[in-house]
Amino acid sequence: MDKYINQAKTLMEALPYIKKFNNKIVVIKYGGSAMIDEKLKMSVIKDITLMKLVGIRPVVVHGGGKKINEMLEKVGKESLFVDGLRVTDDETMEIAEMVLSGSINKEIVQMFQQQGIKAVGISGKDGRTILARKKMPGGKDIGWVGEIEKVNPELLDSLMNDDFVPVVAPIATDENNHTYNINADYVASALASALKAEKLVYLTDVEGVLRDVEDKDSLISKIAIDRIEQYKEEKVITGGMIPKIENCKKSIEAGVNSVHILDGRVEHCLLLEVFTNSGIGTMIYKQEDNHGE
Ligand SMILES: Nc1ncnc2c1ncn2[C@@H]1O[C@H](COP(=O)(O)OP(=O)(O)OP(=O)(O)O)[C@@H](O)[C@H]1O
Ligand SMILES: [Mg+2]
Repeated sequence: MDKYINQAKTLMEALPYIKKFNNKIVVIKYGGSAMIDEKLKMSVIKDITLMKLVGIRPVVVHGGGKKINEMLEKVGKESLFVDGLRVTDDETMEIAEMVLSGSINKEIVQMFQQQGIKAVGISGKDGRTILARKKMPGGKDIGWVGEIEKVNPELLDSLMNDDFVPVVAPIATDENNHTYNINADYVASALASALKAEKLVYLTDVEGVLRDVEDKDSLISKIAIDRIEQYKEEKVITGGMIPKIENCKKSIEAGVNSVHILDGRVEHCLLLEVFTNSGIGTMIYKQEDNHGE
């Protein structure tokens, strides 16, 4: 009997969080690098299923870096990155869209449906949800890499109102109908801002932001947005962490209440973040929130 009472108590401990997040939008960016292990993948889907069933409105945005690299390797193409962004020629664009909008997107949708959850997979192209333009980092032309000009949340709103979990692939078109590959970190942030999400969570393949990428015990648990530039200059934050952290900042500035980078390889990391006070991963905050560092 004690076992069951303890179980009931555990459930009760989640009540304040369930109340707090009822009907609120939580955007989850699922990093391609954390999406490799089947068991972990299902654990993330189950966490989001639970969130949905207790009244949260999840929106899932996925990347697919590792799978795109694998596919490019198969056709004998090298993966090149500039500041964490993939250099995208015509062929890379075609492969990226097939992997992201086709294989990964539909697999995630299928996994939700296996859990009895209604889900719809779209890319930024559908319903003209995302309007892109060419991105030129530091004036450099890196091909079909887009940045987000505008978000039209109409389709996402309709899907959520009809009880679907939207699953979004980071592909979009510009005004001239050119297709662009957009780093999913930007998409997650832009959607969180446009949808006025309560929370934005980046699930990735590291513990959070590390002071030394080689040392998993060097986790920085809180970062004020005005320290970000310094970390970039000191080369603490490099590669794939750059778009993530820059977008955390953007979302905070756009009014998203809480923004976190979590280790998607930790079982139930999302439940820990949303329904407990555990403080895992890295939290990004505005200085005046005075969370201390
Ligand atoms: N200070 C840092 N702390 C942690 N990771 C860092 C840091 N600087 C750079 N990184 C790199 O950032 C990577 C995470 O970004 P990456 O783009 O590879 O994954 P993702 O964004 O989760 O997946 P995807 O790009 O497929 O959506 C880590 O694996 C790590 O190598
Ligand atoms: Mg990335």
